[in-house]
Amino acid sequence: MKVLVIGSGAREHALVRGLAADPSVTAVFAAPGNPGMADQATLVALASATDGPAVVAAAREHDIDLVVVGPEAPLVAGVADAVREAGIACFGPSAQAAQLEGSKAFAKEIMAAAGVPTGQPRVCSTMDQVARAMAEFGAPFVIKEDGLAAGKGVVVTDDADLASEHASACLAKKGGRVVVEEFLDGPEVSLFCLTDGVTVVPLEPAQDFKRVGDDDLGPNTGGMGAYTPLPWAPADLVEQVVAQVAQPTIDEMARRGAPFAGVLYVGLAMTSGGPRVIEFNARFGDPETQGVLARLRTPLGGVLLAAAQGRLAELGALEWDPRSAVTVVVASENYPGTPRTGDSIGGLPQPRDDAYVLHAGTALKDGQLVSAGGRVLSVVALGADLTQARERAYEVVDAIELRGSHHRTDIAAKAARGEVSIPVAS
Ligand code: AMP
Ligand code: GLY
Repeated sequence: MKVLVIGSGAREHALVRGLAADPSVTAVFAAPGNPGMADQATLVALASATDGPAVVAAAREHDIDLVVVGPEAPLVAGVADAVREAGIACFGPSAQAAQLEGSKAFAKEIMAAAGVPTGQPRVCSTMDQVARAMAEFGAPFVIKEDGLAAGKGVVVTDDADLASEHASACLAKKGGRVVVEEFLDGPEVSLFCLTDGVTVVPLEPAQDFKRVGDDDLGPNTGGMGAYTPLPWAPADLVEQVVAQVAQPTIDEMARRGAPFAGVLYVGLAMTSGGPRVIEFNARFGDPETQGVLARLRTPLGGVLLAAAQGRLAELGALEWDPRSAVTVVVASENYPGTPRTGDSIGGLPQPRDDAYVLHAGTALKDGQLVSAGGRVLSVVALGADLTQARERAYEVVDAIELRGSHHRTDIAAKAARGEVSIPVAS
């Protein structure tokens, strides 16, 4: 089978790596891809990843059997619909189903209908409504823009003025709506659930580090690192989340005639009252996917094809590497603000099975690898436990040379020390 991956981040590099290792996959293509993928995939130029007909044309040109869509923007723009209409199998939900990520208000409506535990939302279109909702919930305030914002549309703060300012900026946008939400306390979990619209197959849970700085300080980013598995999580966590969240959501989408096929990213807070949904995404998470796929032993292409073809019920249990995986993101100077780019990247090690570098914002300039985005590289390492995986990952991170770059030094540190706990009900 020939597979085309749409996207250019480290998440897509992880997908390419997994697909290239699947014996049933004869060729991997990536559009537009990045220089790090070039060993494992043929890079295909693509003017716009959100242009359905252009993706279909690329798939036809290379005789592709399966298209895997990485990022949310092409999904929300209907790229998966266009590919399927052209008779090519596609891993990724329809534009309609991708509204689970594209609209926070829609996601809340589905959760309410499906009885999924989540933070109480108030969907507001005026500042009066925002003020009432903030008064109702109290601090900390959670203010979410109702649209795609690449993980940056959410402000969580104790500062009422800051919260109001963000709400007002969101409302000022065309058709602007804002969701004010009850604050959910507790460690966060990302659980990726593969689904063909009927059957749900969960992957192993991971934890992401969204804030830019150590100790969760500073602004939110797309994600600065992750680890899997979660030594502190209840043994039945995955089972519980499938039963209480993923399956009811998938069933509700099917009932509405908008079946969701692809990966449902369930972002949870482990509160004293049990797991509650913070967000849904319609795609794999970045950087969690890098570590999760590092541990997946079942060949990836067969799994994604089964999801795309409605055959997940036939798939046997997934096999996992028992080791721990830690991913550390190396970001450009000034990320998550406007990143400094165009600097040469050095110090990349020879890839090993248990420590390697995935590319995101990189480019080739006169044959030299340079930075070309905010999140530049993802370093992935496996180890017998989180401590060993951390050591291996940071050894690589410390050797990387990129002017002004920064990274978190505490990815998986608390979990490795046994310091993550779920709040207990008072
Ligand atoms: P989202 O884009 O909805 O994932 O939100 C981004 C980040 O904001 C989440 O990963 C959480 O860290 C935080 N967040 C969002 N909603 C809540 C909430 N209701 N309570 C606490 N933190 C939240
Ligand atoms: N790691 C967070 C996200 O992919 O949205």
